[in-house]
Amino acid sequence: MKSLHGVNIYITGGSSGIGLAFARLASSKGANIAIIARDTKKLEQAKKEIYSACKSSSQKVEAYSIDVCDAKKLYKAVPKMIQQSGNPDILVCAAGVGLSNYFEKITDDDFKKIMDINIFGIWYTLKAFYRYLKNRNTHCVLLSSLAGLIGVYTYSAYGTSKFAVFGMADCLRSEFKEHGITLSVICPPEVDTPFLQEELKTIPVKAKRIKKITGVLSADTIAQSIMKAILKKKFMIVPGFMSKTTWLLHRLLNGYGTRLLTDILIKL
Ligand SMILES: NC(=O)c1ccc[n+]([C@@H]2O[C@H](COP(=O)([O-])OP(=O)(O)OC[C@H]3O[C@@H](n4cnc5c(N)ncnc54)[C@H](OP(=O)(O)O)[C@@H]3O)[C@@H](O)[C@H]2O)c1
Repeated sequence: MKSLHGVNIYITGGSSGIGLAFARLASSKGANIAIIARDTKKLEQAKKEIYSACKSSSQKVEAYSIDVCDAKKLYKAVPKMIQQSGNPDILVCAAGVGLSNYFEKITDDDFKKIMDINIFGIWYTLKAFYRYLKNRNTHCVLLSSLAGLIGVYTYSAYGTSKFAVFGMADCLRSEFKEHGITLSVICPPEVDTPFLQEELKTIPVKAKRIKKITGVLSADTIAQSIMKAILKKKFMIVPGFMSKTTWLLHRLLNGYGTRLLTDILIKL
C-alpha cells in the first residue's frame, strides 16, 4: 500500500515527537490525520506542519485538545471527533511521558502520573475508539519501549508502565484480531524528541551510560517502523540494530547478560 489516500488516522500524542513524525509521514502518503494532545499551541503548530506535508489540499487535518487520562471527557469527545474526521482506519497511541530517577526520589504522585498517562491513557483511548474500529479491517498501534521489554536502571516507574503496555498489547492482539483489528506494538530505544529533554532533568549519569549501548534514533525512523508495522501487519517491532541485538541477547541468555552488563556499568 504505497498510498494512504482516504485513510483516516487518529494519533494520540500527535503534536510532538514520534506521533508528529508519523503524522507527517502518513499525510505525505495521502492520509487524513486527526491528532490528539493537550496543549493547544503545540497542536496548532503541529497541524500546520502536517498540512505542509500533505500530498493534496483535499486531505483533512484536525487537531483535538484532550487529556487521554480524562476518561469521561474522552468518551464524550470521541464520537464528536468521528463525526468530524470520519471513522478511524488506523489508531496510533503515542501519548506518553517519561521519567528516569532513583526509586527514592520518585514520589507516589510521580508514579501515579506515569501510570495514568502511559497505561490508563491507552486503555481509555482504546475503550473510546473500539466500537468504531471493530469489524472494519482496521489497525491499532501502541507505543511501548525497549524499557518495556528489559528492566532498565532507574526506570522503575516508566519501565513498569511500558511493560504494562506491552502486556496489554500481547493480551489484546488475539482478541482484537477476532474482531478485524490488527494490533501492533513498537518498542523503541532512546528517541530524539522533546521527551528526552524532560528526561534529562532527572536522569542519573549512570543511567545515561547504560542507555548509550542502544543509541539514539530519530523520530522519523520510528515513524517508518510504525508504517512498516501497519503495512506488513507486524505485531511487534523493536527499531534499531543495537536494540534488536540487545533484545535478542536478553532472550537468549534469559536476562543474565543484560543484568550482568548493567551491574558492571553502574560500578564504573
Ligand atoms: N523519546 C523516547 O526516547 C521514547 C522511547 C521509547 C518509547 N517512547 C514512547 O513514545 C511515545 C511518544 O513519545 P515522544 O518521544 O514522541 O514524546 P513527546 O515528544 O514528549 O510527545 C508526547 C506527546 O504525548 C502528548 N501527551 C502527553 N500526555 C498526554 C495526555 N495526558 N493526554 C494527551 N496527550 C498527551 C504530548 O502533548 P501534550 O503534552 O500537549 O498533551 C505530546 O504530543 C510515548 O509513549 C513514549 O513513552 C519514547
